[in-house]
Amino acid sequence: MKILGIETSCDETAAAVVEDGRRILSNVVVSQIDIFAEYGGVIPEVAARSHLEAILPVIDKAMADAECSWDDIDAIAVTHAPGLLGSLLIGTLTARTLAVLHDKPLYAVHHLKSHVYANWLDDMESKNTPLRNALSRPSSRGSVAPCLARRQTCSSEEYSSDFIRPSFPLLALVVSGGHTQILYMRAHNQFEIIGTTHDDAVGECFDKVAKILGLPYPGGPSIAKAARSGDADRYKLPHPKVEGLDFSFSGLKTAVLRTVQKEVGVPISYPSHKLKELLTQQQVCDFAASFQKTAVEILCEKLEEALDRYPEIQSVVVAGGVSANKELREVLKEAFFPAPSLSGDNGAMVAAAAYYEIQSGVKPTDPYSLNIYPRVSVEK
Ligand SMILES: Nc1ncnc2c1ncn2[C@@H]1O[C@H](COP(=O)(O)OP(=O)(O)OP(=O)(O)O)[C@@H](O)[C@H]1O
Ligand SMILES: [Mg+2]
Repeated sequence: MKILGIETSCDETAAAVVEDGRRILSNVVVSQIDIFAEYGGVIPEVAARSHLEAILPVIDKAMADAECSWDDIDAIAVTHAPGLLGSLLIGTLTARTLAVLHDKPLYAVHHLKSHVYANWLDDMESKNTPLRNALSRPSSRGSVAPCLARRQTCSSEEYSSDFIRPSFPLLALVVSGGHTQILYMRAHNQFEIIGTTHDDAVGECFDKVAKILGLPYPGGPSIAKAARSGDADRYKLPHPKVEGLDFSFSGLKTAVLRTVQKEVGVPISYPSHKLKELLTQQQVCDFAASFQKTAVEILCEKLEEALDRYPEIQSVVVAGGVSANKELREVLKEAFFPAPSLSGDNGAMVAAAAYYEIQSGVKPTDPYSLNIYPRVSVEK
């Protein structure tokens, strides 16, 4: 079954054709990062206008790269929630029109579900190591390895392609620009939120800390790059005390701000956008490394707590833009990660999520009345 997936929830205009929820026939992503680097963040109105310019060429290219005609496409899938209102409108209106025009079933997909389903796509970037995330490697962390070792009981269906698939029940650690959640998945298309952030998302925290340090937008990749030349133990940053499996990242961002102010000898009233002028290159790298280490530790601590609470878990999958982070991949060796190019927003993950919705019996939506939901939980 070939599905055209369309994604425009934030600042990437993306379309892809995916076969049977796993084989990527094409994957086209046009990012607006260059536009927003100048402003240090996304401007919703500009994002929507950029989607409008890019959407049709992006879909045309996805169809051409996949060598598909409309007759070859079995269904269209589109992100309808959550995200920026104007951005979601462009993607959904395009998908609705195409569904009516070409008489295709239309599936509306939740953005976080699609991030999670990036882990079911064939990871062509690791083609030479099909048994990725092999289980034999020793874990540097306490309870993660023994728990995940039970993944070896995968059914033969899960070995049907070159790549191992995650097994249920599983935990999904969603770490993106707008979300930080731990989801419990009993089976395909069943999502229960067991932990969530009380304030900032971890990706948002990377972006805000990068701004304080004068590193370019988006902050995640620039912090990771600066951290490579930094001493992660130079600055001690606090771990928030949050009950249960929930997170909080706004305190960590403020702790970086206060530590920078102390380090350069200015009062807390000093304008944060001027701090970068007072930092040396080495201090920037050391702050980046210390912050990245602390953020990764916080994520892993909660994940380990979740694994202790749910001993039946067979797999852990990590999803969302921050899953591209190498440090996080290094520490969570036993978890599933999407190929780095599929960590951020893309159309392939939308098509994959729709495929598993279809397998779970979800019916297509009405193209004449499909709505968008800028803020809605993955459980709804
Ligand atoms: N290597 C990296 N290390 C850490 N963070 C990263 C890395 N690469 C990207 N990010 C972060 O990922 C975030 C973008 O991820 P994503 O595109 O999934 O977010 P979004 O779609 O805007 O939000 P959401 O998915 O919650 O709606 C940004 O905050 C960015 O800084
Ligand atoms: Mg996203």
